[in-house]
Amino acid sequence: MSHRLLAVAYLLLAPVTSKPFSNRDITVGPCKWAIGRSCPDPDVKYYIYTRYNVMDRQSLHIGETSEQSNLTDSYFNPQHPTKILIHGYNSDMFLNPLQEMRNEYLAKSEHNIIYVDWSVLAPGPCYISAVHNTRQAGACAAQLVERLVEAGNTDIHIIGFSLGAQVPNYIARQLKSFKLPRITGLDPAMPLFITAGPDDKLDPSDADFVDVIHTNALVQGKLERCGHADFYMNGGISQPGCTGPQWTNSFACSHQRAMAYYLESIRSSKGFWGWACSGYIPYLLGMCPPTNYLLEAGDNIRHNTRGMFLIDTNDTSPYALGKWTDLPTLGVKHPHTPALTLKIPAQSVDPLLQHIDQFGKLATNFNNLPSAPYAQDPYENWTSYSPTPHKDSESDDSVEEQEQYSTESADMDDRQLNKPIDWWIYRRNLTYGHIDNTIFSIPKVH
Ligand SMILES: *[C@@H]1O[C@H](CO)[C@@H](O)[C@H](O)[C@H]1NC(C)=O
Ligand SMILES: *[C@@H]1O[C@H](CO)[C@@H](O)[C@H](O)[C@H]1NC(C)=O
Ligand SMILES: *[C@@H]1O[C@H](CO)[C@@H](O)[C@H](O)[C@H]1NC(C)=O
Ligand SMILES: *[C@@H]1O[C@H](CO)[C@@H](O)[C@H](O)[C@H]1NC(C)=O
Repeated sequence: MSHRLLAVAYLLLAPVTSKPFSNRDITVGPCKWAIGRSCPDPDVKYYIYTRYNVMDRQSLHIGETSEQSNLTDSYFNPQHPTKILIHGYNSDMFLNPLQEMRNEYLAKSEHNIIYVDWSVLAPGPCYISAVHNTRQAGACAAQLVERLVEAGNTDIHIIGFSLGAQVPNYIARQLKSFKLPRITGLDPAMPLFITAGPDDKLDPSDADFVDVIHTNALVQGKLERCGHADFYMNGGISQPGCTGPQWTNSFACSHQRAMAYYLESIRSSKGFWGWACSGYIPYLLGMCPPTNYLLEAGDNIRHNTRGMFLIDTNDTSPYALGKWTDLPTLGVKHPHTPALTLKIPAQSVDPLLQHIDQFGKLATNFNNLPSAPYAQDPYENWTSYSPTPHKDSESDDSVEEQEQYSTESADMDDRQLNKPIDWWIYRRNLTYGHIDNTIFSIPKVH
């Protein structure tokens, strides 16, 4: 990540963080930078599901040794493959596609499905601190992997979405004598990682096999390859079916598709088959037409797959088209020009963030979009981030709330910093594209 930027942020923010805190975290409003923490960390939680508890999660305590952990008291079975699912920014383990992935895996065969919930360290709108906190989430989750290995479980596959796809990098870096067999990055994040070195981002050195699905490259971050096998779905920039009047944020929709495709791939009878392309520039130049040499992406990928691949999908679920050579359209020329004409959402971005948020990532919610346009509040049954009871949507515009949350000046004094945030309203605002940018503004130093 950009150390220079973080250093600037620290310097600017440090003077307003005189609140008494037991650890060395830096806290500004709802955002906290985990600093000098150790693991286990109560903010990094683990939950396991198996065929014995498909619906009821078991909480796991993971400590520095097996004796200090209760992994073996759970339904965990070291004989079964383990999938570790990691959510991203402004999200948590209940992100719908991640939950459905569990059902798909358990329907497919016996698995240990373990969620790493680091939502407390990754709330919106705290993108920069969430990026910083991936390190802490990874350091702690590495203890989980160590305990799994000690219990005799080595078939470990980590699947991370968005910013969660950067956590395995820090897991890998903590593991001394064990190399992860597989990491899957689902549209890995994003700004701040573009300039990061290999120590600070997902790359092929992190596991024996790293496969990546790109659905919103450029916007969510990575046009560059970051795995042994990189799949650019429909060109990797925007996804079919994600544009149109019903989508207030087609970027978010495209980003989310990475999970939808992967989810479908787990038990897809057709499969997502891609053809190789030597690089993104040749692709943009139209030099990568579909070929007969096809390799499958997603859960059933062959671990010796190497290179960059392009895949077409349908625009609604089920997305998989199988091998394009089986399609009735065989011979029809595919229009493989990525749609680069998308309008960038209107936004007002802090100057400090402008260069990392050219696409309005921070101005909208990219990570918790429901899978289809909805009438109902998709968060009504969520339990996290809900210190106050959920209110009717009518109450959103009440004078009281407007007063409470309108922080129009950048003058964030202690009174404002200590004010409780109504996470329900905050998250709903993010979903609808309202973001209070003052959270990022530069505080006045007296
Ligand atoms: C493990 O320990 C945690 C914390 O003590 C507890 O909440 C959880 O229920 C335990 N899990 C199992 C499977 O015993
Ligand atoms: C794509 O989806 C549409 C609508 O579900 C369906 O009618 C069509 O057959 C699909 N195309 C292919 C090639 O599977
Ligand atoms: C929330 O739970 C209620 C009752 O179980 C259910 O009827 C409703 O559909 C749920 N809402 C969502 C968005 O899942
Ligand atoms: C939510 O959005 C409304 C309308 O844009 C705004 O007045 C309010 O301050 C926002 N609240 C929060 C917590 O962001």
